[in-house]
Amino acid sequence: MANETIESHDTPETASAETSSKATTPPNGPRVSRRSFLSHLGAAGIVATTAPVLASAGTLTPQTAPAPEAPTADPSAVPLILTVNGQKHSLRIDPRTSLLDCLRENLDLPGTKKGCDHGQCGACTVHVNGRRVNSCLSFAVMHPNDEITTIEGIGQPDHLHPMQASFVAHDAYQCGYCTSGQIMSAVAVLKEPVGPTDADVKQAMYGNICRCGAYPNIVAAVQHVRNQA
Ligand code: FES
Ligand code: FES
Repeated sequence: MANETIESHDTPETASAETSSKATTPPNGPRVSRRSFLSHLGAAGIVATTAPVLASAGTLTPQTAPAPEAPTADPSAVPLILTVNGQKHSLRIDPRTSLLDCLRENLDLPGTKKGCDHGQCGACTVHVNGRRVNSCLSFAVMHPNDEITTIEGIGQPDHLHPMQASFVAHDAYQCGYCTSGQIMSAVAVLKEPVGPTDADVKQAMYGNICRCGAYPNIVAAVQHVRNQA
């Protein structure tokens, strides 16, 4: 009975507060309930926060996705003419490109191998003006006037250099990864003032590492060619 009295005799202030919490009637617009207003607000928030995700997933219209950038030329590239195996090549390369990377990636000469890339293994040995160098330690732009020779310029399968043929005959390799560097060093040794013994050859080629341990056969192959010269 007491409850009925309370429900049927709300004060004007209570009734007004309850009414305003349930609905709002703008002066010149339709009646908008509080629940409806909050629902629309929530929907707008969801659209605002998920639009970038939907755009990246391709679910929105194409205009909302950024256009792909057109490839641009490397602004730091410099012109370079390189003479390799008797052939001149006109290039534009990043001045930080090593001679090794230039040979392998710009000139498509993969016979020169990248081992350590730090001057410690000799796999990248090439000749510059007849002298052996580690091409990983030299910038390509340092050689515009030099004659560079790689293993491809030493010989080809149908016309092997005597040192290449000797490596094959003496089974002077296992995996073969170090072999082009070994042969380039060995060919250079033929023109260097190196003593006649096996120990002299080992000393002369100490910078060429063979992780397969084919050293006895490598020395035998080199000595065979030296003794025939
Ligand atoms: S790759 Fe050049 S010395 Fe090892
Ligand atoms: S043959 Fe494998 S590293 Fe020398």
